[in-house]
Amino acid sequence: MQTGQAGSAPKRTSLHGHWSSRMAFILAVTGSAVGLGNIWKFPYIAGQNGGGAFVIVYLICVVAIGMPVMMSEILIGRRGRRNPVATMELLGKEEGHSGNWRFVGLMGVIAGILILSYYSVIAGWTLGYVVKSATGSFSGASAAVIGKQFGDFVGDWKIVGFCHTLFMGITIAVVARGVERGLEQAVRFMVPALLLLMLALLGYSLNSGYFGAGLEFMFTPDFDKLTWDSVLAAMGQAFFSLSLGMGAIMAYGAYLPEETSITGASTAVVAADTFIAILAGLVIFPLVFANGLDPADGPGLVFDTLPLAFGQMTGGAFFSTIFFVLLAFAAWTSAIGLMEPAVAWTVEHFNRTRSQAAIIVGGSIWALGLGSVLSFNVLSEFTFMRGTIFDNFDFLTSNILLPLGGLFIAIFAGWVMCRNSTADELGGAGPTYKLWRFLARFVAPIGILFVFLKAIGLLDYIIGLVQ
Ligand code: PHE
Repeated sequence: MQTGQAGSAPKRTSLHGHWSSRMAFILAVTGSAVGLGNIWKFPYIAGQNGGGAFVIVYLICVVAIGMPVMMSEILIGRRGRRNPVATMELLGKEEGHSGNWRFVGLMGVIAGILILSYYSVIAGWTLGYVVKSATGSFSGASAAVIGKQFGDFVGDWKIVGFCHTLFMGITIAVVARGVERGLEQAVRFMVPALLLLMLALLGYSLNSGYFGAGLEFMFTPDFDKLTWDSVLAAMGQAFFSLSLGMGAIMAYGAYLPEETSITGASTAVVAADTFIAILAGLVIFPLVFANGLDPADGPGLVFDTLPLAFGQMTGGAFFSTIFFVLLAFAAWTSAIGLMEPAVAWTVEHFNRTRSQAAIIVGGSIWALGLGSVLSFNVLSEFTFMRGTIFDNFDFLTSNILLPLGGLFIAIFAGWVMCRNSTADELGGAGPTYKLWRFLARFVAPIGILFVFLKAIGLLDYIIGLVQ
């Protein structure tokens, strides 16, 4: 397999422009990683899977699998400098292997489309909650009232559909503007601002009297309760939260200047993403326990807990509005990443302008998203395999397509690309390189395969598909 030619980097440039600086790249990748996955999904998935043990498995997956796959995606992207489909094909051939590696890129394009279709619906909820916050709906409200407000809100398909449409509209608008003008501008202030607001909320939950209970729930592992399905969920969540396994980071890597350190950038992004997820948990679980709510509440968890805290604060309506605006922003910068592989591919493969591609891809995603809009109201009883349409899209993408994409990416970077090529991208064959290569060749692929095979849920799913 190690037949590729020596690895002095072929100097390619990207058709879609480049990041203006190393900081711009780090911001963009962080913007893609930090999103609903950290603040909406991580707490509710951790809650549904019993807390402590899940969180520990999640952290192990982030370090042992997420980190090497992130570095692999960036280095592959930068070396190929095309959309993920073309890059995988080009490098596959260049390394003396096969152009069929493009199917990994294609799988990523599809995963991105499927994820964004429901991601946009949840992002739409946050837009709805901006309005609810601004009009003071939460002030002084009890847990029961806030829970009912959420139920009524998602129960109304017209409003949810409108919010989904609005969100897809603004996403298409940014993607159509292109790399420098669109993506960079959107991420500059969002992550720092979100972090500040989360820290302010942390102050609130520290004083709630239930911080210890939240901490205990998140960090006291009870491995007896951990099923293989939960381990799969933790691994899937690591991929989802870090935006890995579908070519988003690969597409961003394609716009990365030659001299930037991939290891440094990856470490910064992984650390920031993980910090924000844990922070979200530390804010939300104390509120859950303080108000007698259920940590396994599901996708509504954030919308049932945070408004309670805001409702009791002075100036709560104001902070709540800002918070949901920032969350919508975080979702927006992630949505851009979800769309980028499909758009870059449409531009290059079908000779479209960026705007045309953004509209075609975005329009299809919008239509697909209607299934998830209806999953919480009209079609909530329409369940199969894993649950509603939303549940199935989420399970298929997070727990199957992303880890599978990550598996192939790790194998490609670790086994197909020759040592010279990867060492060239990662700045020489020092100890960090050796560690990366060990993780990418052995730990990540074996880990992913093992969890896949162990998770009976997955086997059931495949059996369900063929029946
Ligand atoms: N990482 C994003 C989040 O946590 C979601 C995402 C997944 C974005 C895959 C891009 C690619 O919300």
